[in-house]
Amino acid sequence: MCGIIGIVGNRPVAPRLVDGLKRLEYRGYDSAGIAVIEGGDLKRSRAKGKIVELEAELSRAPIDGLIGIAHTRWATHGKPTVANAHPHISGRVAVVHNGIIENYETLRASFDGARNFESDTDTEVVAHIMDAALSAGMTPKDAFAHTLKQLHGAFALGVIVGDNAGHIYAARRGSPLAIGLGDGENYIGSDAIALAALSSDMVYLEEGDSAIITANSVEIFDENGTAVSRDTTRIDDAAIATDKGPFAHYMLKEVHEQVRTTGQTLSNYADGESVKAPEGLDFTAFDRLTLIACGTASYAGHVAKYWFEQIAQMPCEIDIASEFRYRSPVLSPRGLAMVISQSGETADTLAALRYCKEKGQTTIALVNVMTSTMAREADIAIPIDAGPEIGVASTKAFTSQLMALYALSVLAGKQRGGIDVAAEADLMKAAAAVPALVGKSLLLDAQIKTLAADLAGNRSAFYLGRGPHFPLALEGALKLKEISYIHAEGYAAGELKHGPIALIEDGTPVIVIAPFDELFEKTVSNMQEVLSRGAKVTLITDAKGAKLAGHMAHAVLTVPDMPQTVAPIVLSVPVQLLAYHTALALGTDVDQPRNLAKSVTVE
Ligand code: G6P
Repeated sequence: MCGIIGIVGNRPVAPRLVDGLKRLEYRGYDSAGIAVIEGGDLKRSRAKGKIVELEAELSRAPIDGLIGIAHTRWATHGKPTVANAHPHISGRVAVVHNGIIENYETLRASFDGARNFESDTDTEVVAHIMDAALSAGMTPKDAFAHTLKQLHGAFALGVIVGDNAGHIYAARRGSPLAIGLGDGENYIGSDAIALAALSSDMVYLEEGDSAIITANSVEIFDENGTAVSRDTTRIDDAAIATDKGPFAHYMLKEVHEQVRTTGQTLSNYADGESVKAPEGLDFTAFDRLTLIACGTASYAGHVAKYWFEQIAQMPCEIDIASEFRYRSPVLSPRGLAMVISQSGETADTLAALRYCKEKGQTTIALVNVMTSTMAREADIAIPIDAGPEIGVASTKAFTSQLMALYALSVLAGKQRGGIDVAAEADLMKAAAAVPALVGKSLLLDAQIKTLAADLAGNRSAFYLGRGPHFPLALEGALKLKEISYIHAEGYAAGELKHGPIALIEDGTPVIVIAPFDELFEKTVSNMQEVLSRGAKVTLITDAKGAKLAGHMAHAVLTVPDMPQTVAPIVLSVPVQLLAYHTALALGTDVDQPRNLAKSVTVE
């Protein structure tokens, strides 16, 4: 959510800042801007919309220098206009910011009209405070420290000072910030992906840290202002590789990658037909598991609840982080809390993790970015290992979250004595079958494209499922909403008659997710209920289900028969492709849907 990059170097920075912004665009794309120091003066270029608009502005009126900061915005305070685009400048100070300055109104009022504010943002006040401190005679270092002391909230900041060329001032409180190390140059970035073309050696700032970065030095201070040293992490190229390959969109590439990524994830948790315990994880030490996440990751948690209860007989609850953290949840003294997050940075999930730590829970972070804040703060960090996910609508991270959670439920069952060696082997063989089943599901692509052309003509749709396919119905509806902007609702198939069935009329599209399992007949009954009210039903099922009920539906998407336990992972594929092709038919921006951002580092 908002992306920051900065370069202090020995070569012109503007094109490289723009390149870094493009890599960060998944974090927000409402507006973008850069500021550089050219001959002792701050120069700024900003544009509304995506980075290409900024590029156009820069080619119309070029600016450049040997030091600069840049930003791509996901609007929180103030509309996505040029005036609200970062960097914000006051006098000699230019600021880029990710996060929210919660007390900005009080700080703004404290100037009592003495300063002229040009934007509606919470950020601009930061530039004014620092510029006022410089005007009062403070050194840039002291002025920056003084500014940080005034700010409440969660933020990452990058600052340059016009007559202090050669220094970037950076700080991290709540929002992530990395420092990249170069040869005669150094960098700041919201993540390693931003700096992929510049550096593989990252120093991750810790909570409360600030830093002064020059071309040849990096000084880091903790929240008390004491100089500290932080470890350097070498980033694996695969973790920052972000090209689209032959695919039209990142989302399509990532859907196809699932043949590999589901297996890759499993390899972290499987040893042949045995499940492998992450270091330090013993489910017998706990009497309750609490799963917490946001968005798509929360639906992975919803599916996992069924697995932990059915496979491991382990009490398990799941909550969305933004509700969990504010409802004073009562946690067991012997509780285990697991946050699930692709980015490892989502503000609400991170706050929930901290709450759980405070309440004495042992904490696990299941994350895709192992250098993320959640990974660093949890007692145990375990990998989703799906590789970088760039499409804003999560796909491969979801199926890898499911795969990891499935294996962990088998581990919990094994450790807690609920399943024997033979059952463990069966369950793990089922997991090992997933990559090939995903491959076969991808063969539905052409059929899904035809169905999507029809779905695209509707204003709303329903997704129904039971058991672990109920959360998959929620995820299916979310995917469709996110990228096609068609209103969609996911429902537990048995719940539809308690109200929403009133919305079914002639031609209402209903997608029923029902593989052949013990709930199949019940779901088929619910399918009949909507059919008799005129719904146009697409049944997503396996070969057995298609044979038994396929003739009732208007269309059937059939995946091969599969072990029941892993069906939610495999059936995710047609669900994702249906949303993708519908969005494509409608001509929306699949990888960067309106109003969304991938990494949500504000509440
Ligand atoms: C955003 C993204 C979703 C994602 C959610 C949680 O809303 O658009 O795709 O599921 O955040 O993100 P996380 O990184 O915590 O999994």
